[in-house]
Amino acid sequence: MSKIHQIGLIGAGNISEAYLKLAPLFPGTKIVAVADLSAEAAKARAGQFGVRALTVDELLKDSEIDTVINLTIPSAHYEVSNAILSAGKHAYSEKPFALSVEDGKKLVAEADARGLKLGSAPDTFLGGGGQTARKLIDDGKIGRVIAGTMHVISRGMEMWHPNPGFFFQPGGGPILDLGPYYIAALVNLLGPIKAVTAVASKGFEERLVTAEGPLKGKTVPVGTPTTINAILNFASGAQVTLTASWDVWKHGHVNPIELYGSDGTMLVPDPNFFGGKIRYSKEGGDYIEVDTSDAPFGKSNWQDGKHANYRMLGVADLLDAADHGREPRCSGRVALHALDVMVSILQAAAESRVITLSTTTERPAPLTAADAERLTAPR
Ligand SMILES: NC(=O)c1ccc[n+]([C@@H]2O[C@H](COP(=O)([O-])OP(=O)(O)OC[C@H]3O[C@@H](n4cnc5c(N)ncnc54)[C@H](O)[C@@H]3O)[C@@H](O)[C@H]2O)c1
Repeated sequence: MSKIHQIGLIGAGNISEAYLKLAPLFPGTKIVAVADLSAEAAKARAGQFGVRALTVDELLKDSEIDTVINLTIPSAHYEVSNAILSAGKHAYSEKPFALSVEDGKKLVAEADARGLKLGSAPDTFLGGGGQTARKLIDDGKIGRVIAGTMHVISRGMEMWHPNPGFFFQPGGGPILDLGPYYIAALVNLLGPIKAVTAVASKGFEERLVTAEGPLKGKTVPVGTPTTINAILNFASGAQVTLTASWDVWKHGHVNPIELYGSDGTMLVPDPNFFGGKIRYSKEGGDYIEVDTSDAPFGKSNWQDGKHANYRMLGVADLLDAADHGREPRCSGRVALHALDVMVSILQAAAESRVITLSTTTERPAPLTAADAERLTAPR
């Protein structure tokens, strides 16, 4: 029987609640402590879930804890993940994994040198939606994927996040903030990307915070592009256009990802979530709908049953990988490649050129029903 891993969280903000709520779905994971630069934030979150509140230093020195999840803000991700690995613990980071490819490469090398597992969100592609779409593509339902479109567009994030400043600074923006979900989803479906090109702009110089909280009514400056159009050229030969924007009030792109294959078309569910419905056609025929709610990690369980949310699945898979000596699916290597894609999109736009990527990755292994059973089996 596999062990129960004792886990610490660093970063007790907004998203930490979901990790603490969802961890009990995965009996191999046990979150035992929370730390934050703000002692009050750590205390409040730890108190809510009956776990220990520690300082970051105490948490890193705690010999009971073998794994740490990094839920800090993007600009702190590299430094905190590096400290976790240096403390001899497995590290799993919220996205984006790091802000520069150099830092990402250093993290991957550090984990390898220490024999530790390194992983990163997103893990949404491990959900019922992403895995079912993957199986349909691997089974050849739409043939060879030739082209695709991806739309990540909305007006945000100042309407819902009480402290949205970081979204509009380098490390944020729709590419680095939301791009990880969409790029990881495409790497899961189509494999690695070879080259990118893009154009980018800022729709507004500042944003008015309307979310409830101390910043309501104040403006935050915009220091990174908020509208980006990119072309992704895959090693497989597929080409996908990506529009990412936080400057759009309303649009008609119901399906964020559409893939056009030699034998048909697939409409892929939103990789911001774990579930969703897939539609695919054989050549120009009617769409065949595939409900993924019965697939592992596809059932809606969040926000009154509106969405499927299985955050912690990537962590559970990483620890299962540690137990069985294999590569985690949400690995540092996949995250590094996705980071390279995103950073290169922004660089290609800034320099008006095509960039050939310096990284590649294997497609993560499919998550089978047997894997899902093992990850959720009582210990
Ligand atoms: N909020 C969401 O719904 C959501 C969803 C998915 C992913 N994420 C990602 O999760 C991460 C955190 O987002 P959030 O919304 O929880 O942010 P947040 O601002 O609410 O919380 C971040 C917390 O990290 C702490 N922190 C910052 N630097 C630190 C450091 N060096 N050491 C220790 N603590 C530090 C802050 O004090 C704060 O409490 C981001 O990378 C974000 O992209 C957030």
